[in-house]
Amino acid sequence: MKFDSTEEWKSKIKRVIISEEEIRKEIKKAGEYINSLYDGSPILLVSILKGAFVFMADLCREVTVPCEIAFMAAKSYFEGTESSGHVEITMDLKHDISNYHVIIVEDIIDTGRTLNEIKKILGVRDPLSLRIMTLLDKPDRRVVELKADYSLFTIPDYFVIGYGLDYGEFYRNLPYIAEFGE
Ligand code: IMP
Ligand code: MG
Repeated sequence: MKFDSTEEWKSKIKRVIISEEEIRKEIKKAGEYINSLYDGSPILLVSILKGAFVFMADLCREVTVPCEIAFMAAKSYFEGTESSGHVEITMDLKHDISNYHVIIVEDIIDTGRTLNEIKKILGVRDPLSLRIMTLLDKPDRRVVELKADYSLFTIPDYFVIGYGLDYGEFYRNLPYIAEFGE
């Protein structure tokens, strides 16, 4: 992906659908949910790079109980615009998760295939518990049955950018969530 100018890059940010303020408000509540779940038991927040890096950075600062943070990277293979369900772990966790309550911190659940695979991969490692928290959920697009334990925003079938989410690796740095449009 290449842009001829900043103007061209900007022209594809169609409209803001979730503002910085709305995100901040929901993240506070999401932090309170984590705080109320576990009382001093070992928590591991696991974020899947790269899309969830901004969400993780803001969410973890709303957590006021002991927690550890870890990252893993996965490559989802796509067929056209949809993930195929074939997921390759390109960077794995260093933690033995059998001693932790694991919360997967994800940017968006679309077809559900990527997270469904990751959930299986982590599930067999026998964590004390395994939960999914997602910033965005597009339930209309789901092809495998997968529900997040906590979802901050449910959105229609738009392609969205910003706050960690990309189009061709760009727009992750936008502080809000916008609809992408050609
Ligand atoms: P799934 O396997 O279809 O649920 O795909 C999930 C992955 O596709 C997410 O982790 C994102 O990286 C990407 N994705 C799905 N929808 C969007 C979107 O609207 N904007 C940016 N990335 C998206
Ligand atoms: Mg992602």
